Amino acid sequence: SAIRLDDYRRPAWTVASIELDVDLGIDRTEITSRLHLRRDPAQSLPLRLDGENLELLSITLDGRALADADYRYADGVLEVAAVQDNSTLETRVRVRPAENTALEGLYLSGSRETGFLLTQCEAEGFRHITFFPDRPDVLSRYTVTLRAERARFPVLLAGGNPDGAGELPDGRHWARFVDPHPRPCYLFALVAGRLESIRRDYLTADGHNVLLVMWSEANVIDRCHYALDALERSMRWDERSYGRNYDLDVFHVVATHDFNMGAMENKGLNIFNAKYLLADPDSSTDEEYRAVEAVVAHEYFHNWTGNRVTCRDWFQLSLKEGLTVFREQQFSADMNSAPLKRIEDVSLLRRTQFPEDAGPLAHPVRPAEYREINNFYTATVYEKGSELVRMLAGRLGQDGFRRGMDLYFERHDGHAATLEDFLSALGDANQIDLKPYLAWYAQSGTPRLHAKGSYNAERREYSLTLAQLTRTTPGQPEKLPLPIPVKLALFDRHGHLLPLHLDGQALGSETVLVLDKAEQRFVFHNVPSSPVPSLLRGFSAPVVLECDYTPAELALLLAHDVDGFNRWEAGQQLAMLAFDSLQPTGDGSACKAWCDALAALFDNPSIDDALLADLLTPPGEIEFADRQSEVDPAQIHAQRQHLQQQLAQRLGVTALIARYHTLAAHAGQQLDAVSQAQRRLKRRVLDLLALLDAHQAHALAARQYASAHGMTDRLAALGVLVRDQAAQATAALADFRQRYADNPLALDKWFGEQAKLPGEPTLAVVMRLENEPAFTLKNPNRARALLGTFASANPSGFHRADGAGYRFFAERLAQLDAINPQIAARLATAFNGWQRLEPVRREAAHAALAALAAREDLSRNLNEIVANVLQR
Ligand code: ARG
Ligand code: ZN
Repeated sequence: SAIRLDDYRRPAWTVASIELDVDLGIDRTEITSRLHLRRDPAQSLPLRLDGENLELLSITLDGRALADADYRYADGVLEVAAVQDNSTLETRVRVRPAENTALEGLYLSGSRETGFLLTQCEAEGFRHITFFPDRPDVLSRYTVTLRAERARFPVLLAGGNPDGAGELPDGRHWARFVDPHPRPCYLFALVAGRLESIRRDYLTADGHNVLLVMWSEANVIDRCHYALDALERSMRWDERSYGRNYDLDVFHVVATHDFNMGAMENKGLNIFNAKYLLADPDSSTDEEYRAVEAVVAHEYFHNWTGNRVTCRDWFQLSLKEGLTVFREQQFSADMNSAPLKRIEDVSLLRRTQFPEDAGPLAHPVRPAEYREINNFYTATVYEKGSELVRMLAGRLGQDGFRRGMDLYFERHDGHAATLEDFLSALGDANQIDLKPYLAWYAQSGTPRLHAKGSYNAERREYSLTLAQLTRTTPGQPEKLPLPIPVKLALFDRHGHLLPLHLDGQALGSETVLVLDKAEQRFVFHNVPSSPVPSLLRGFSAPVVLECDYTPAELALLLAHDVDGFNRWEAGQQLAMLAFDSLQPTGDGSACKAWCDALAALFDNPSIDDALLADLLTPPGEIEFADRQSEVDPAQIHAQRQHLQQQLAQRLGVTALIARYHTLAAHAGQQLDAVSQAQRRLKRRVLDLLALLDAHQAHALAARQYASAHGMTDRLAALGVLVRDQAAQATAALADFRQRYADNPLALDKWFGEQAKLPGEPTLAVVMRLENEPAFTLKNPNRARALLGTFASANPSGFHRADGAGYRFFAERLAQLDAINPQIAARLATAFNGWQRLEPVRREAAHAALAALAAREDLSRNLNEIVANVLQR
């Protein structure tokens, strides 16, 4: 039973305000809710409320107990007969938090003795707490009263402003919260238990005092300081960049080790997977510090893009997620290095979203239908969604985009909006019709942008022909041309930028062409010599660029392009050619060009260490696989290793070791950009050295492991030793496990590094690790660290030719599904792309998937993914 975008109807009943009284207990919690109901006069449907697994204890309408015949609760719906407009419906229900392993609704984090209670409602968790029209276009005012035993639950929190607290008989206490802003129920949250906090006062730009509070269990509260700083930076940034101020007296953020996603933007009470909140040098890598900063900002930014303006229905999910990811990316670019951030974001897009768009799970940024909405929190909705906002922002320019956003907030504050509303506001504020961009939201698949240039020396003309093609995707046989902004510059053969003249206009050295037909030709005048085009600068559209560059042209861009992203991109393209040139049919010349170009950069002191590290990294195995029609992951792994070996050889043992020592001289765990860049390059140099002289590299790694000042260096060293199965790996692993025995996030890395071991032996390693006492399928981070890493981040390990990896993984998915369907469904997407495997693996993957699909006990979550992966 699919839910379709086209079937949208306004709600027949809404809830003007809700009073919730919650009597908290680990085994049993009772929730009383009073809904003040409004009826849409234009509709005559009976009152229907969502409710899942609720034990209904009592129900009254306007104070009168209802007879059995007056209501019906079945199949997740409570239907009440003869309800009048303006009625008050009161229900009392019981739920069982300790039994809730799906981590949706109200559940227990940690142990019965020391853990705490919390909620996760997005997308449809509120119906696991009380009866309600569980859809984002029902906005209500919330008053929430919590009651609990004081000794066991000293801290009681809910969203909104505090509105009183006090003692009750029998060692119990209460606390009340009122939220002045109407909001959808997916933003409801409560937290109760023994938690510590750190606090800070914050004065908003518009003069409002806010208390910022980070909460966690006592043993990790010291690791919340970085997140608190990041929160303050995010708040200032949103004030400066978008004129958006915070709007409650308090802002609470809580860390939990038991969470299905990264974090959640509940109004006034954000809840975070500890992985994205806790940070300290001894247990967090530089990447993790950046991730904490980004996710803290992301959830904070949702307060305006998501909470104040929310989504009409879940098909509009990208309205809040794509936009908020974009804002988060802008923020991170401002706080750190903009080109490095862009490289990181585009790499992520290619690693996660491009394969999604190219396989059986392909769906538009605004999907047309779904069966389980939790399956649509995807790279397409988030990352591609962000790229679409970036294109719009680029089209309007900085001031124009800000004008558009201001109008968007002005028009839709306090309401549930659509993507059409968003594009209209952006367009209307700038007198530009952005409707053509809606096609991007409706069409799945990654467009291929073909570019071909030719130079006419006599006429001094350079003509560039751009063409686009999107391959068919499941359910979308016809594809339309999309508006594709192509930012470009031209270089002469000495690497100098050329001034651009198009249609009699002088355009400076960079311009944006918009291709909005299947094919178009652009002619540049006054071009003195045959140029090398730098196309799609800054990755101006989420497309695959196909352009027949020669290795020499790419080497020229790699050496001279001033657009940091395109410089890196030229290196990636050259690495692709290098990879191809090492095939039996190739002559190796592109590989030589790639190695020579990088060797020159390696010795160039003006280049940033972090950028150099990224330049020295060829595209990943998944990106190489994406270009092939019959994928053999073992072969790709071997060939990519071979490619890197060529590079290592070209750089040479002596130079690599010398550079390693130079970088290692600055050991420490300072978080400034220079120190981070040094660590990043050091890791890369060590990786390359290991391909040349394993003995020396392992000795250096073992020493680095032992003397590391922080997790970045320690984990990098461990990674090399484990990957190479070096003699020193066993001792390092044992040390790591012992050192971090009480640190689950660090232990996740211990599992993850071992699950990354390339090739056939990994499966046995994973099966052994499952028997570790610290392993459990019940904790999402742990399950992801071992099983998710194995299946999604280690192609040569997972895709064994004998299919044993597939059978093992499918078996675990079924087990996990019984515990936590959301996590099972998410991990199952590792099977995406099986149709393009070489025949032996394809057959084996198909058999494992078919056996899984044949099971009758699968959740709707897992069932939808498996069915889509298999059949379409
Ligand atoms: N809105 C959250 C975010 O910041 C994600 C929550 C998704 N939760 C879920 N169960 N699907 O991106
Ligand atoms: Zn989000």
